[in-house]
Amino acid sequence: MNRRYRKTIIAGNWKMNMTASGIKSFMQELKPLLPSPKPCEIVLCTPAVMVQNMVKFGKDCKVAAGAEDVSKYEKGAYTGEVSADMLKDIGAKYCIVGHSERRQYHHEDDMLVNAKAKALIEKNIIPIICVGESLEQREMDLTIEYITYQVKAALSGITAAQLRHVVIAYEPIWAIGTGKTATSEQAQEVCCAIRGVIRKMYGARPARSVSILYGGSMNAKNAAELLAQPDIDGGLIGGASLKTADFATIVKATMQ
Ligand code: PGA
Repeated sequence: MNRRYRKTIIAGNWKMNMTASGIKSFMQELKPLLPSPKPCEIVLCTPAVMVQNMVKFGKDCKVAAGAEDVSKYEKGAYTGEVSADMLKDIGAKYCIVGHSERRQYHHEDDMLVNAKAKALIEKNIIPIICVGESLEQREMDLTIEYITYQVKAALSGITAAQLRHVVIAYEPIWAIGTGKTATSEQAQEVCCAIRGVIRKMYGARPARSVSILYGGSMNAKNAAELLAQPDIDGGLIGGASLKTADFATIVKATMQ
């Protein structure tokens, strides 16, 4: 983390878990566990149908609400899609895009990820853009090359002024939901490389200000060590964000 230049963010990704009606009790349980004043930006990303309740019940805990996906289209005949405008209207502040599960199960490519990020920026929602390599790519020593490509593609056409409202999350696919965390050195190496790519694209200042999160089996035990790395500005947390005590411990791990 580097609090001097950039925001520290702990964002939960609930994926397709929990229900809207369970949010109130989750927040009641979380509130006394969170430090006050809050040491970082705290976000919980949920399916679109739950965002409104997250906005309502998250307020008291100062937890910002986020969605997990958005349509690239502004509006129109796209049955089942949810637009950035709709998310904005119910109070979403963040939205994940390009999560590896969307890339894998819904065949989202880098162009689509880029279009979704732009759709969000247009409506003043902060995209949390996910990038990450597969195990095969890591074993073939292609990690940095692939991540460089992903970052460049995701940020294509996004201006330096817009980049101030963008968050990047490095999530190695082999570490997601597997209990296999990247070592803090591995995570730092890639997050530092991502900052390097952004430096080349936008210059030193924007690179210094962009928050880069690590995600992939981050938990109450390993969070402090990961967050101690200079280029890791927070976490995108799946499994551990579903448990109030674990999530609160990760938030507290930013107090170092
Ligand atoms: P995990 O998920 O923490 O359960 O590994 C992270 C993510 O997919 O964002």
